Amino acid sequence: MISKATVDTVYETARVEEVIGDFVHLKRAGSNFKGLSPFSDERSPSFMVSPAKGIWKDFSSGKGGNAIAFIMEHEHFTYPEAIRYLAKKYNIEIEETEQTNEEKANMDARESMYLVSEFAKSYFHNTLLKSEEGKAIGLSYFKERGFTSETIEKFSLGYSPETWDALTKEALGKGYKLEFLESTGLTIPREDRPFDRFKGRVMFPIQSMSGRTLGFGGRILTNDKKAAKYLNSPESDLYHKSKVLYGIYQAKQAIAKQNNCYLVEGYTDVIQFNQSGIENVVASSGTALTPDQIRLVNRLTKNITVLFDGDAAGLRASVRGIDLILEEGMNVKVCTFPDGEDPDSFARKTSYDDLVAYLETNAKDFIQFKASLLMDEAKNDPIKKADLIRDMVTSISKIPDRIQREVYIQECSRIMDISEQVLVSTLAQLNQKEVAEVEKKYKKEQKSFEVVKNDHPEALEKVDILYRLERKIIEILLLYGNKEEEFEDTFFKTNEEGDVVNVVEKKKLKVFYRIYLSLQEDEVELANPLFRAVYNDLINHYLQNETFSLEQYLMHLPSNYAQEVTDILMEDEKLVMHDWEGQNIFPKSKNDTIAQNVTETILTMRWYLVGSIIEELKNSILPDTDNTESISMIMDYNTLTTAFSKKLGRVMSRFS
Ligand code: CTP
Ligand code: MN
Repeated sequence: MISKATVDTVYETARVEEVIGDFVHLKRAGSNFKGLSPFSDERSPSFMVSPAKGIWKDFSSGKGGNAIAFIMEHEHFTYPEAIRYLAKKYNIEIEETEQTNEEKANMDARESMYLVSEFAKSYFHNTLLKSEEGKAIGLSYFKERGFTSETIEKFSLGYSPETWDALTKEALGKGYKLEFLESTGLTIPREDRPFDRFKGRVMFPIQSMSGRTLGFGGRILTNDKKAAKYLNSPESDLYHKSKVLYGIYQAKQAIAKQNNCYLVEGYTDVIQFNQSGIENVVASSGTALTPDQIRLVNRLTKNITVLFDGDAAGLRASVRGIDLILEEGMNVKVCTFPDGEDPDSFARKTSYDDLVAYLETNAKDFIQFKASLLMDEAKNDPIKKADLIRDMVTSISKIPDRIQREVYIQECSRIMDISEQVLVSTLAQLNQKEVAEVEKKYKKEQKSFEVVKNDHPEALEKVDILYRLERKIIEILLLYGNKEEEFEDTFFKTNEEGDVVNVVEKKKLKVFYRIYLSLQEDEVELANPLFRAVYNDLINHYLQNETFSLEQYLMHLPSNYAQEVTDILMEDEKLVMHDWEGQNIFPKSKNDTIAQNVTETILTMRWYLVGSIIEELKNSILPDTDNTESISMIMDYNTLTTAFSKKLGRVMSRFS
C-alpha cells in the first residue's frame, strides 16, 4: 500500500488547476477558472475550478470533487492509480507501507515485471523507427497497411528483430533481471542461452486501462501457413488474456464521451478505426468475450456495439458474447460488415462520414440481429422458427431490467409474429430460478424507492426546506466556522401582561460555537444523515483544533461525503457563473454579515421546527376526546411562530 505520508504529500502538492489544466483548457474568471466540461459535449463553459478551495465542479454532469477525484473520474483510475499518477506528475517518491516480506516480494516482482515490459515496449518501438531492419521490414509493413506515423506513436507499435536473443541481451545489459524477462514471457528460459519469444514480428503492446504495458501481440510478416499469424505474451501475473481489452487505454475517454463502445476482434481493427477517426473502439483480441472484459467497458459506458466480420461462421460462434453483455445489464447492438470484409478492411476504404453512416444504419439490436441472421432458414420451417424464438427469449431472460425485458418481448412478438403471452410464459419457464432472482433484486430496488416516496406533496416540500437549512448550516460551518463574530442574541420572553417580547443581548462567539450551542439548546440533530455526519465531524474538528484549513479538511474527507461537500461549496460559485452568462438569475444579498446569516438560518430552523410541532399537535387532535392540552400548546406555539415570523419575514420568503 502507498504510505499515508506519500498520500498526504500528493494531496498537499497537487494543485487542482494544474492537474485539470492538463486535460481542460481553463480560463481565469475572477478567483476561479472556467472551462468546457470534459464529461459532456457543451458549447458554453459550465466547468468550474476553484484553486482557493482546491475543488472543481462540473455543472453539466453534476460531478465534482478535488484533484484526485478529477483524475479518477477523467482517467477512470482507481484511487491508488490516481495517487500514483499525481505522484509521478509532481515527482513525488512513492513510499510503500510496511508489508510482509511475501507481500513485498510479490509487489516488487510485479513492479519489476512492469518495468521490464515498459522497457521492451520502448525497445521494440525504437527498433521499428531507428534500426535498419526495423525500418526496412517492420515500418514498411505498417506503412503498406496505411498506418501513419501518428498512429504508430499512439499505439506504440514496434518491431522485434529477427535475431534470436536481441531483446534479452539488450535488457540484461541494461541491468534488467532474467527472472522478470522470463516471468513476463518475453524471454524463453534455456539452460545455456535464454532466447527471445518474439522474433521478426511487428509488435502490438497490450496496455491496461491506466496505460501500463501488460503484454504483447506480435504479428508474423511472412505468409508461412504453418507459423501462427499472431503470437501473444503467455499468461502471467501481469497479463491475463481474459481480463484485457486491446486499445482500452487509447479509447477510454472517447468511450465515456460518446457513451458507446465499439467492440471488434483484432488489433488491426482497433488501429484502423482510430485512424479513421473513430476512437471508442476496443478488441477482445480473437478470444471469446469474457465477463471481465465486459465489466471493463461497463466502467465507461452501458452501451456496446459489437462489430462482426462478414463471414457467417464466425458470427454464430460469437453470438454468445451478446448474452454475456446483456447479463451485465448493458445494452448491446450488433453491426455486421459485407462478406469478406472486417472492420479493418472496411474502414480503410471508407471515409469517416460514410463509416459513421454505415455504423449508424446497420447497427441492430440483438433481436433484429438474431432475426436477420436466422430468419432465412427459419421462415418456412416451424421447428427452426421455434428454436429461433427460444433463442431470442433466452437472450431476453438475461436482461436484469424488467422494463427492458418487456420492451424486447414486445419487439420479439412483433418480428416473429407470435403472441406476447406465449413469450412471457416461455420466459418464465425458461429460467425460472434465474428470473426469480432477478425479480427479487428488482423488488428490493423498488422497496428502497418506496421509503423515499412521500404521500403528501406538502410533506415533500417541507423536507426540502429542512434539507436546504441543514445544507446552509454545513456551508456556514465549512466557510466561516472558525471566524469570530458578534452575535445579537434574541430571547423570547413572556412578560407580565402575557405578551411574548424580544430580549436582545450581544456577545462575541466563534461561528461554529454559536451554531453548536443553538442546536444543542434546541436539542436538534440534523435530519439528513450525511449532513449529520459532516456536521458532527466538523464540530469535533473545531472543538479540538485551534485552526481549520478547508483544503486540509477536504483532503481527508471520505469520498462519500466529498461529493456533497463540494456541491455545497460550489453553490456560491454557481451564482457567479450565472453572472458570467449575464443572466444574474439568483440575486443574492451579499450584504448580509456572517453573523446575520447564521442567526437567520438558526431562527428559520427554529421557526420550521416549531411549525412541525404544531402540525404534529394538530394531527394528534382526535374527535370525542379531551384535547384541551393540545389546543393550548398549539396556541402557545402559534404565538411563538408569529414572533418568529415578524423577525424572519425576509428570511422566510427566501426559503419557502
Ligand atoms: N489472433 C491471435 N492469434 C492468432 C490469430 C488471431 O491472437 N493466431 C487474434 C489477434 O488479436 C488478432 C485477432 O485475433 O488481431 C483477429 O484475428 P485476425 O482477424 O486473423 O487478424 P487481424 O487482426 O485481421 O490481422 P491481419 O489483418 O493483420 O491479418
Ligand atoms: Mn485483418
